[in-house]
Amino acid sequence: MAPPLPLIFLLIIHWVSSAGWGVSYSHSDICALKNSSVIMSCTYTYPTGHQIMKAFWTKGPKQDVNPPDLSEDPEYSQRLQYLGDKQQNCTIRLSHVTQKDSHTYYFRFNTNKCSKKWTGYPGVTLTVTDLQVEAPERVTEGHNVRLTCKSSCTLTDRATFIWYRNSQPLTERRDGNNQLLLQSVRREDAGRYSCALHGHSYTSSSAYLRVMYPPQHTFVAVSPCYEIVEGDSVTLICSSDSIPPALNFSWYKGGTFVGSGRIYSISKISSDHRGEYKCKSRNKYGEKYSAAVTLNIMFVPLLVWAGVKKEEGTFLFAQVFQNKQCKP
Ligand SMILES: *[C@@H]1O[C@H](CO)[C@@H](O)[C@H](O)[C@H]1NC(C)=O
Ligand SMILES: *[C@@H]1O[C@H](CO)[C@@H](O)[C@H](O)[C@H]1NC(C)=O
Repeated sequence: MAPPLPLIFLLIIHWVSSAGWGVSYSHSDICALKNSSVIMSCTYTYPTGHQIMKAFWTKGPKQDVNPPDLSEDPEYSQRLQYLGDKQQNCTIRLSHVTQKDSHTYYFRFNTNKCSKKWTGYPGVTLTVTDLQVEAPERVTEGHNVRLTCKSSCTLTDRATFIWYRNSQPLTERRDGNNQLLLQSVRREDAGRYSCALHGHSYTSSSAYLRVMYPPQHTFVAVSPCYEIVEGDSVTLICSSDSIPPALNFSWYKGGTFVGSGRIYSISKISSDHRGEYKCKSRNKYGEKYSAAVTLNIMFVPLLVWAGVKKEEGTFLFAQVFQNKQCKP
């Protein structure tokens, strides 16, 4: 299965004509972070006795006979630095790369003895990436959650990822290279998460992680909280802390269900309403009862008053009278 003779000749002619000519790049694909500096390492050879007339980098187009010199392009001239010598090292540095710089770049040169310009194909393909935090929108308290700092290509330089919550660096719980594992999430873990690479100024946009939890405290406020004259209306308001906010409230008087809704109103209060009231708030993650509130109706001197009493003691009851506050 030897190749036909003319093809062998062609190959030999090509080898002879290109003998001693060449450009080699240490990376043909580079994935770089936005705003970083990229070094494109490159060396070139040509037959001895030749002198370099012009050597430059270009981004093509490939079929262009006279592709423009990148260092004369206003988009690049300020950011491009030729690090090599003009003999055999054609390394350059491109600083503050943007996604617009994602291109294939070629090194091109000619010598005094050859009118032909030599282009080093296939060149260096640069891809510039940003970072994005991938996180679930919400997580339930107690569950584990994994956040990923995503780039559109695999970064060429080995990099250490840094994580931030509400712009504060997080020191622990890094998992894998570009992942952050939050184990048994607490409500304090809610916040804006962003990531960056160590030694780089660019920071990703942030993703908000919501931590969902059932009500932990449920309170009843009584309005007005004292000096209610018999016949007045009294309003009991239930509130609680949960995410998402509880929308489901139930009221109990002495253990018996008496109504639902955040507000429980008693118009024309009378001794029939005397008793202990509680509310229960609920979201999809759980529910919680409030402490009991005692509505004590007193008839001396023809006054109706309502006190707030916490199950644990009478301390709050006293406070209501001293401060004339209705908050439990
Ligand atoms: C080319 O020049 C760069 C910058 O001076 C240097 O870091 C690199 O080692 C050189 N490459 C070779 C092959 O000499
Ligand atoms: C880009 O990098 C420079 C330093 O190299 C820094 O001063 C600047 O803030 C960075 N810009 C962005 C948008 O990160």
